[in-house]
Amino acid sequence: MKKVQFTETVLRDANQSLIATRLPYSKFEPILETMDKAGYYSAEVWGGATFDVCLRYLQEDPWERLRKIRAKMPNTKLQMLLRGQNILGYKHYPDDVVRKFVEYSVKNGIDIIRIFDALNDVRNLEVAIDETVKRGAHASGTISYTTSPVHTLEKYVSMVKELQKMGVSSICIKDMAGIMGPQEAYDLVGAIKDAVPDLPLVVHTHSTTGLAFMTYLKAVEAGADVIDTAISPFSGGTSQPATETLAYALRQLGYQVDLNDKVLIQMADFFKGVRADFIQDGTLDPISMATDTQCLNYQIPGGMLSNLISQLKMMNAIDKLDEALAETPRVRKDLGYPPLVTPTSQMVGSQAVQNVLAGERYKVVGKEIKAYCRGEYGQTPAPIDPEIQKKILGDTPVVKGRFADTLEPEFEKTKKELGTTAKSDEDVLSYIAFPQVAMAFFKDREAGFPKKKEEPKKMESNKTAPVTAPVPQWQGHVYYAEVPAPAVPGYTTRPIPPFAASYQPPHLKMGVREDCTGSFTVTIDGKPFQVSVERADAPAAPVAAAPVAAPVVAAPVAAPAAPAAAPTPAPAPAPAAAPATVAAGETAVNSPMPGNIFKVECKPGQTVKAGDVLVVLEAMKMEIEVSAPVDGTVKSVAATVGTAVNTDDLLVTLG
Ligand code: CO
Repeated sequence: MKKVQFTETVLRDANQSLIATRLPYSKFEPILETMDKAGYYSAEVWGGATFDVCLRYLQEDPWERLRKIRAKMPNTKLQMLLRGQNILGYKHYPDDVVRKFVEYSVKNGIDIIRIFDALNDVRNLEVAIDETVKRGAHASGTISYTTSPVHTLEKYVSMVKELQKMGVSSICIKDMAGIMGPQEAYDLVGAIKDAVPDLPLVVHTHSTTGLAFMTYLKAVEAGADVIDTAISPFSGGTSQPATETLAYALRQLGYQVDLNDKVLIQMADFFKGVRADFIQDGTLDPISMATDTQCLNYQIPGGMLSNLISQLKMMNAIDKLDEALAETPRVRKDLGYPPLVTPTSQMVGSQAVQNVLAGERYKVVGKEIKAYCRGEYGQTPAPIDPEIQKKILGDTPVVKGRFADTLEPEFEKTKKELGTTAKSDEDVLSYIAFPQVAMAFFKDREAGFPKKKEEPKKMESNKTAPVTAPVPQWQGHVYYAEVPAPAVPGYTTRPIPPFAASYQPPHLKMGVREDCTGSFTVTIDGKPFQVSVERADAPAAPVAAAPVAAPVVAAPVAAPAAPAAAPTPAPAPAPAAAPATVAAGETAVNSPMPGNIFKVECKPGQTVKAGDVLVVLEAMKMEIEVSAPVDGTVKSVAATVGTAVNTDDLLVTLG
């Protein structure tokens, strides 16, 4: 009987895909010892965004989190995701840093390192693989899955053979965008199994388009040994398909599945409670748990499509969507068919928008695209169109060979610079990976963490309007809270009606808790804001469809670092609702996506041309340049360096 094994993703990919990695250690600690008995092939617990989010928002040392999980789960292989030469980010690090990172990951408890590169350039994988093998851990050599005329089975097979030569212990097909269909999975898995029959094959996908269950079944049929799944309450949508469902279906089809069902039930019960908390505080948007087939129509990942739409909206050019969608595959072809994953998906999408809006292709080119064309991301799957490369680069030389070879060793130098600020080599690595975030973390740790650190995420919804209680979303939330349909008065499946005022859903309490009303000082990025929270609804009507559950009025109090001229985009007295509106004849330049203001490159009174960079955002660890959509004069600048902004927040007004 063929055996199929499972990697549980609830603590990493599911956590990252559904709730932006906001699961703190304290919340999942009680289930770890139980989870250790489930019989998983591995538990993916670290890497990806967990590292950054631990430092940035959760007041947790990611290394300490790993050691704690290790102690509670001695019998399960712990797995992490590593972006090859980029470690956890999007820039290349020198080899000494990659080696140290791998060394300390293993020392702190990692057994399996899944190592991938956005361009599938194996030169970006070899150092990480080599060090993993040296440290006695399991290197899983990974294919970033994509489709294009040059991504043929032969090409994937030759990559897999190279990975085998490098000494990997398994192969993983990583379909990060959830676009792999059942037939594609069947063909690819079969081809890889034929080429390297002795290496275990892992398949990773996402449920976004609804294909995942079928994709896994066909992958298993073709010989896949391990599949990535998430325990049911954290499964579906942008996450992985449910562990229990696949265990059930695969057993029915005659496969051997050695998971302990009782443990899975206990885990599901536990994570239902965790999910309810994240639904209640708004972190888990029910939309992300639904099936979205749009990217099947456009052949681009869902995240990339919403990014395109929001960029076009910002430019007041949503009517150009069809043109931008047609331009996207052309740009991808010009650039040598990069897989559409972060960061290349944003790069290709932004370039398509700029090509359409500028009326001339590659007239405006972002910083990342220039670096990409120089070869700083690695070798592209197909050559970049030489004419376009010339237009973008001019006389700037192209990197010959492997970009990391041009980088100076960094670890010892940084360790010296940090001195006693870094308490361990792990601290040095945290700093190298996320300098500003790690430094802020070290300072907080030294001072004793502030008692309650408000996350920008929760405050963002209150940023642009004084009141943003998302009433339609509340109804959606209830829908996800295991409410038996017949018990809900007036329930029909479509559309979901407002619930009766007297109905109290079992898992959720709506509105503002009595003990949470009053006046608070909330600190965001070091600036205090006076926030008053009042209760406007009657306590007996928790889910009534009243438009407003909790008026939240925020006004900045004497903020030490707040510049007088530029109102901070954090919860100010909210002059505008999103998107920001401006006077007639003026043009609002709004943020295309949530992020942090990294640089402000214009001043009031300055004359700018269409395409000039006004503000640089840091989003998804990339620099996103926000350019002037039209010629004009800068009337006012709302963006302040270091503050968080949401989609459609006003950055600059042009007159
Ligand atoms: Co994934």
